[in-house]
Amino acid sequence: MVKEITIQELNTEQFISEQVRQIKDAVKDGTAINALSGGVDSSVVTMLGHRALGKQLRTVFVDTGLMRQGEPEHVVALFADLGVPVEIVDARAEFLAALKGLTDPEAKREAITQTFYSSVFGRIVKESKARCLLQGTILTDIDETVAGIKRQHNVFAQLGIDPQEAFGYHIVEPLIQLRKDGVRKVGEGLGLPAELFDRIPFPGPALAARVIGEVTPERVETVRKATVVVERILRTTSAFQYMAILHEDRVTGMRDGRRDFGQQVEVRCWDSVDARTATPTELAFETLRKLAADILQEVPGVVSVTYNIATKPPSTIEAI
Ligand code: XMP
Repeated sequence: MVKEITIQELNTEQFISEQVRQIKDAVKDGTAINALSGGVDSSVVTMLGHRALGKQLRTVFVDTGLMRQGEPEHVVALFADLGVPVEIVDARAEFLAALKGLTDPEAKREAITQTFYSSVFGRIVKESKARCLLQGTILTDIDETVAGIKRQHNVFAQLGIDPQEAFGYHIVEPLIQLRKDGVRKVGEGLGLPAELFDRIPFPGPALAARVIGEVTPERVETVRKATVVVERILRTTSAFQYMAILHEDRVTGMRDGRRDFGQQVEVRCWDSVDARTATPTELAFETLRKLAADILQEVPGVVSVTYNIATKPPSTIEAI
């Protein structure tokens, strides 16, 4: 049982020095690896690891082919400004091959987990002889996995999986007692720029969590383009998280005077404190209209745009 540190209880400076000490103790004079996705959690872990280990930490950005537009280069540049070197590992072909033909949400999550931890990381850790992998699992990930709602792709111990046995390396999880609000506070305390600690959450399975049905390169490209529009238009809201989701069902539309049996994009925009519950943001109709117009204009093949007005629960934040 992991003991929660609530935002009220969190003493940022004390938390940072305690975690830095624990990371040092775990790694000793060896090396550690961590995967940076540019999301809030992995960014905070990267800075904690960097503070604890300096050159003994190797940070990689795994390009799964499921990231947002320009994300790998952007994240690497942000961390370069902070003095943290990040290597990009191109694993696009491997992830897309693992996802081919899969439509079941849990099967897709499992394929991503296996590719990430066994294939890609298994190889990197083995080659580098690192002692452990630092990762940004947070308490909400565990809650939902244990409750059987969603198998968060990075939760193992709670499922009875021993990473040492399954993948051949040890996993250190410095943020395991925190929820998102606490992680942001620690990020700020570590001197991350607001763009990183205040970023909207983005899931480990990346855009695959937002493609209903099979994840193909073309379908990822569609949701990626829709994501550009949604993030551009909703950036100025104070919403907790917003996203575009590509549906599997097609609907009849018309384009250039002809029938176009096209694709449907669903927009979600959530108000939430810690992702455990969420309500849809009351967006102005003008904003919704702009979302629809720009998606229809900029994303080929889309003929329908909807806005989700369900709450979590029973919905979840992501679609997969
Ligand atoms: P759900 O969809 O479960 O999402 O309501 C709750 C929060 O967690 C994020 N999320 C994930 N984060 N790995 C992650 O690191 C995952 O597999 C994953 N699935 C969902 C989601 O974006 C939301 O903020």
